[in-house]
Amino acid sequence: MAEKLRVSIVGASGYTGGELLRLLLGHPRVEVCEVTSERFAGKFVSKAHPNLRKRTQLRFRKMDELKPCDLLFLCLPHGRAMERIESFRGLAPKLIDLSADFRLNDADEYQRWYGKPHQRPELMKEFVYGVPELHREEISGARFVTGAGCNATATILGVYPFFRKGLVDPDRTVVEVKVGSSEGGNAASDASHHPERSGAVRSFMPTMHRHCAEIYQELGFGEAIRVYFSATSIEMVRGVLATCHLFLREPLEEKDVWKLYREVYGNEPFIRIVKEADGIYRYPEPKLLSGTNYCDIGFQKEKGSDRLVVLSALDNLMKGAAGQAVQAFNLMNGFEETEGLEFPGLHP
Ligand SMILES: NC(=O)c1ccc[n+]([C@@H]2O[C@H](COP(=O)([O-])OP(=O)(O)OC[C@H]3O[C@@H](n4cnc5c(N)ncnc54)[C@H](OP(=O)(O)O)[C@@H]3O)[C@@H](O)[C@H]2O)c1
Repeated sequence: MAEKLRVSIVGASGYTGGELLRLLLGHPRVEVCEVTSERFAGKFVSKAHPNLRKRTQLRFRKMDELKPCDLLFLCLPHGRAMERIESFRGLAPKLIDLSADFRLNDADEYQRWYGKPHQRPELMKEFVYGVPELHREEISGARFVTGAGCNATATILGVYPFFRKGLVDPDRTVVEVKVGSSEGGNAASDASHHPERSGAVRSFMPTMHRHCAEIYQELGFGEAIRVYFSATSIEMVRGVLATCHLFLREPLEEKDVWKLYREVYGNEPFIRIVKEADGIYRYPEPKLLSGTNYCDIGFQKEKGSDRLVVLSALDNLMKGAAGQAVQAFNLMNGFEETEGLEFPGLHP
């Protein structure tokens, strides 16, 4: 058996950190060395992640106590990774950052969407955008990879083939995402307080969602595009469903759409085209994807119009965060891309 890769996780008491830990503890090629939390330092991991009882005897450490390792995952809130990036780079030759700090490669765009200057603009281009379906080769040779936004991942994967081939009206794509509460992380807030959150259908970002910046970056292909994007929280813990309205430049029929998806995603291990003639699961359903790394994509072409509706679903903590990070990790280290990500989900 080959030697295991020694990895550590910073910000491991949070939701993405916990999910990453769950995946990496079951990964045959990995030894999880250290996990950090300032709040839980000295305590067993199961204190923050009770699902991991009897799976590990690791205890959290403080970030300042981290020792060198082969690869470091960063699961910190927005803005915290770039603050300490020098020290993280000193600890490991390879990094995967799940935050938004290095997703964009243009400092002006960062300023526009995040409302302040990037602290390390010279490093922005060093990170590869970690969506393997778009950047597999670059990820495979990369030292620094950034995770993608969960809503951005669902949207981009759903519509990417049409933008890549120039098949959509660049001026009027409309996307509405419905999201679960775990997107907000584990810090409590007024919005997450149970009586306020439970049962809510809450429009929280009708315009100017930051994930638009990633969508523009990844789908532009040298052309100015407009994506009208809105986000709504619904009664769900995990999951994203992106409903994308594309207006086609060319009169595609459903058989053409099938063909295009097969051509672009036919060999993708984590993309499934879900479109059935009948039954309750005719289209993608986030509920079925909890804990899996799949992105399920469905569609319907409107008869007599140029509108194509694409539905794209995933688990925000998996294909939207930790699962996709492990997929990228596998590529970066020459492992089988699906290793550690085989869980097929639950039904019902
Ligand atoms: N949730 C999602 O669906 C999702 C999806 C994709 C990407 N992301 C991104 O992934 C990152 C982590 O998200 P999350 O949902 O896991 O957040 P989270 O549940 O709030 O966890 C954040 C982690 O960072 C630590 N932390 C908090 N404040 C800190 C500070 N000021 N300095 C250092 N450490 C601090 C926390 O641990 P201690 O306080 O115990 O130290 C905790 O372990 C975020 O940047 C988020 O944008 C999240």
